[in-house]
Amino acid sequence: MKPKSTDSTRDPYDELPYCAFPVEWTAPERLALASLLHGGPRLPLERYRVLELGCANGANLLPMSWYRQHAEFTGLDSSARQIALANDSRDKLGLNNLHFVHGDFRSAVDQLEGPYDIIMAHGVFSWVADDARDAMLEMCASLLTSEGLLYLNYNAHPGWTVRGMVRDFLLQQTVGASSLKERAELCREISARVISPLKEHEHAFTKLMANEFTLVINQSPEYIAHEYLSPANRAYWRKEFFDVLQRFGFSFVADADFNSMSNRITESYADLMKLSDLDDSAAGDSADLMCYRQMQSPVLTHSPLTSSPCTLEEFSNLFIVSKLVPVDDKGEHPTFRGPSGEDIEITHHRFSEILKGLQPIWPRGRRIASLFTDVAEVRESLEYMLSQQLIELRCVEPGDFNVSPEPLNELEISLRNISTSPWHRMDAPETATGPD
Ligand SMILES: C[S@@+](CC[C@H](N)C(=O)[O-])C[C@H]1O[C@@H](n2cnc3c(N)ncnc32)[C@H](O)[C@@H]1O
Repeated sequence: MKPKSTDSTRDPYDELPYCAFPVEWTAPERLALASLLHGGPRLPLERYRVLELGCANGANLLPMSWYRQHAEFTGLDSSARQIALANDSRDKLGLNNLHFVHGDFRSAVDQLEGPYDIIMAHGVFSWVADDARDAMLEMCASLLTSEGLLYLNYNAHPGWTVRGMVRDFLLQQTVGASSLKERAELCREISARVISPLKEHEHAFTKLMANEFTLVINQSPEYIAHEYLSPANRAYWRKEFFDVLQRFGFSFVADADFNSMSNRITESYADLMKLSDLDDSAAGDSADLMCYRQMQSPVLTHSPLTSSPCTLEEFSNLFIVSKLVPVDDKGEHPTFRGPSGEDIEITHHRFSEILKGLQPIWPRGRRIASLFTDVAEVRESLEYMLSQQLIELRCVEPGDFNVSPEPLNELEISLRNISTSPWHRMDAPETATGPD
């Protein structure tokens, strides 16, 4: 029997809804911090409005709005089935500060009541056709407040090129499968078959490809369908991305994941790149290539960006958070265990005392001003520790929102087997509330 081809007129997200999850660095406080520390606009965190474009089943907005009852949230998506799932969850939680709208970027602007202080679109920019992308950006330009923040993420050249090869290969090999789900399952079978004959001592390129195919094998059919088999999925060069954004009047503020070590080349390599004759864009592309960075998550604002650096008062008002565990007090300087199990010696006595005091109250933090008498003196060291992920800084303390996680987490566990904390992290349930 000849296989039927997939119905090309049906919305693929209606056929097979996406497996969306909360995205930690889209939390409003995180975006506000990225902007503050890079001289961008200051978000009004006491009261604000958020719009998520391409919100799928609402997995990101449901926990965000649950804990942040002082703010208003709206999600827009063109898949009727996903919006129905999102509305069902919203109703179960009785959330009055969250609304979902079914509509397409190309026509939905009149269904939305702007302006919004934050507009976010995770997993959308690279995954839609150019006309939908442009309509989305036009909508952002008209609905964002003048001091608002736009968060986007996109698949980035040159790092994504290898994944793009795997996508092209899987698209070719699975033509004619009868449904999107079967096609995605076939991708897993083919990936397993491709890597099964490999021996331990293979060429470095073969190992790289094997790693990519292993990722496919470990993904859900929903993810494979919309990442590898989506009709649109393209990577952008950094310059290409900013040229598009400039057309709609946006300029770059910061990377939303600016202090994440993943996908980052060593500092010394980045410094050497800056010293070479390459301009910023070429140096960035080179670093991205060498660390195999596949995705970028920029925060933008209306152009022109007039940079106003974070003042000492603003910095002093931030919260400092650390989970470095003290392990040895006997040597000349105390040693702490870092996030990846590495040992770190802290030479500054006051710092080590503060870190010891912060670890037991994690995931909560304390205001910098309450811990240091001379913040100007320690600011550079704190910024360095932040860049090394030894501490976190926060504009507000989500632990103070005082909202019980239980009904939310029960629903999340039943739907996605996750539970999101007030810090917008997918934590194990016992860490979701934090210590008293
Ligand atoms: C790859 S999914 C990302 C979902 C979610 N933001 C995440 O990252 O987990 C892309 C989403 O964009 C939505 N979408 C695609 N084209 C759209 C359009 N033209 N208008 C509105 N939503 C669209 C899809 O329905 C889908 O839910």
